[in-house]
Amino acid sequence: MKSKLLMSIRMNKLILATALSSLALGALTACQNDDNNKVVEQSSKLEQTSANSVAKQETSSTAVHKTKQVRPDEHSYANFDQVKLTHLDLDLDVVFAEKSLQGTVDLSFERIKEGADSLVLDTRDIIIEQVEIEKEGQWVPTQFDLADKDDVLGSKLSIALVEGSDKVRVHYKTQPQASGLQWLTPEQTAGKKHPFMYSQAQAIHARSFIPVQDTPAVRVTYTANIRTPKELLAVMSAFNEPDTELDGDYHFEMPQAIPPYLIAIGVGDLRFKAMSDRTGVYSEEVYLDAAVAEFDDTEEMVQVTEKMYGPYRWGRYDLLILPPSFPFGGMENPRLSFITPTVIAGDKSLVNLIAHELAHSWSGNLVTNASWRDLWLNEGFTSYVENRIMEELFGEKRAIMEQALSVQDLRAEVQDLPKGDTVLHLELNGRDPDDAFSGVPYTKGQMFLVYLEKKFGRETFDKFLVKYFNDHAFQSLTTSEFKQYLNDNLLAENSDLVSKADIETWLHEPMLPETMPNPTSDAFVIIDGATKSWLSDEKTIEQLDSDNWTVHEWLHFINNLPEDLSLERMNQLDTSFELTQSTNNEIAHAWLLLALKRGYEPVMERLESYLINIGRRKLIVPLYKQLAKTEDGLAFAKRVYQVARPGYHPLAQGTVDAIVNADNN
Ligand code: BES
Ligand code: ZN
Repeated sequence: MKSKLLMSIRMNKLILATALSSLALGALTACQNDDNNKVVEQSSKLEQTSANSVAKQETSSTAVHKTKQVRPDEHSYANFDQVKLTHLDLDLDVVFAEKSLQGTVDLSFERIKEGADSLVLDTRDIIIEQVEIEKEGQWVPTQFDLADKDDVLGSKLSIALVEGSDKVRVHYKTQPQASGLQWLTPEQTAGKKHPFMYSQAQAIHARSFIPVQDTPAVRVTYTANIRTPKELLAVMSAFNEPDTELDGDYHFEMPQAIPPYLIAIGVGDLRFKAMSDRTGVYSEEVYLDAAVAEFDDTEEMVQVTEKMYGPYRWGRYDLLILPPSFPFGGMENPRLSFITPTVIAGDKSLVNLIAHELAHSWSGNLVTNASWRDLWLNEGFTSYVENRIMEELFGEKRAIMEQALSVQDLRAEVQDLPKGDTVLHLELNGRDPDDAFSGVPYTKGQMFLVYLEKKFGRETFDKFLVKYFNDHAFQSLTTSEFKQYLNDNLLAENSDLVSKADIETWLHEPMLPETMPNPTSDAFVIIDGATKSWLSDEKTIEQLDSDNWTVHEWLHFINNLPEDLSLERMNQLDTSFELTQSTNNEIAHAWLLLALKRGYEPVMERLESYLINIGRRKLIVPLYKQLAKTEDGLAFAKRVYQVARPGYHPLAQGTVDAIVNADNN
């Protein structure tokens, strides 16, 4: 009823509006990304939740005005140096039958440049039905132009503005191939009864489900009305009421300004279980109890992080356990981290993932990389904070083992990467940020901070970090801004400890600097000794003394077996330790990879089910790559992938397509 009435009002306004906006559209300028003019902006109202607020969200908003420079982002068409989004109101139906989100988004903006006459947004594979502009309290159609699609960036959407208006409404529909959404049929879920849908927006996929200025240099608050089938629950990276009524009609508010890549939604047959007053788990029934048991240290993790780096500013911290096809380990969506079920190992051996996603509440979500070239500012800081949390909760021995494993992986990985991708401050040159994804921003970034910590001492470095998080709260920054800040707040006072040249090397030179710390684990030294005496037949396999090895010690052991290990020894290991059947997905991955390298065939059946049941890229891509190295392997990969592909996320499909089809090119 209401909408029919509105429609007719809109129709009457159409002619006038079209005339008005076509004038403005004539003045639409080309992409502003190459515009290097730096302008001064007033950052929008930033709202922060009161620290430590529990179940019920209490927000106190403080207006913070900061003078900051706007710089272009090569991965966005947005003209945010002229017109900048500040707030979104989403109103969407989740239409499973069409694998589509359908409805409207109202985009509020502020003009940075007086007289700016267009709003430029990012989109990818979105059908734009109509665009309206709010003028004197009425919605009137306005002209828009949707450009041809660029493979990396998608389609630029230019909307004509009229003076005095600060809000547009886009009527749109997403398409089934939206790169940022996965639609699962009931058969693809654990419960088998209901469909599931979730989003993954980082790095540049928000634009495939919301027309938006899809750059981490822009921050927005948002609200959302989401309609789903009645029996399903929707959750978002916003305030989620733990006892929401299940009625298919959900409302969300996110009062804190976040970059668009942190807007997230999940819809499914979800249950909730609290772990503490402010932490809990959303999950399909099957995983719920196991997840709660696995992750019940979450509250303590929040507390130790607060103690080290200042208040958790986001109210609740919940986890959403996704289907195993989730292409990442985790995603730090604010207030609601998205988590793969592949880390529910039964022994908390992989919970550093939770420490990691939680750490992003400081590094990444509060202080954000300004562009994807600066990803290390998110991931390097987060890997550092993650490891500090693990040290607090599980002790130094485990923390060092985790560092040593990451560094070993990094050393191996950089050998195979294009040189340019081993630099912290990446040169992406318009490349898809997904293609440059590696362990470099994570572990080289982390080691840079470990290096600084060791040089200046933990106490001084911790103080610096607390100040860094406070001074940049709810802002984004570039690597060069970071460098300046580091210089002013750490190096200047202690100039003899670290030279500027060393910092330059860390940030801008390829490969791993000589000054990189080399975390050594005493526990791993013992493993190395045991391996050696087994390989030289000094000890039998029973004498390896492996009964009390932790998952980390097993990983170190498997990853450091020699390249020419005999099939007989592989068989001995398998018979004694049942590695092929390991229920720890990291151990299984390491073992399966070794087995493929060694041509140890008894794993093939297990490998098949592993590849079909897991879609987490980190766990499957190395296996496909190894398979693709031989003719038989590639044939196996193609056969298994045919079955596995429909269950993978579009991102994983893209990566694996490229591996198994490489020979067709
Ligand atoms: N934010 C990342 C995931 C990501 C990075 C998505 C870049 C898209 C582009 C997340 O926090 C992450 O790093 N996940 C890791 C966790 C691990 C390092 C503990 C993962 O998924 O493996
Ligand atoms: Zn991360």
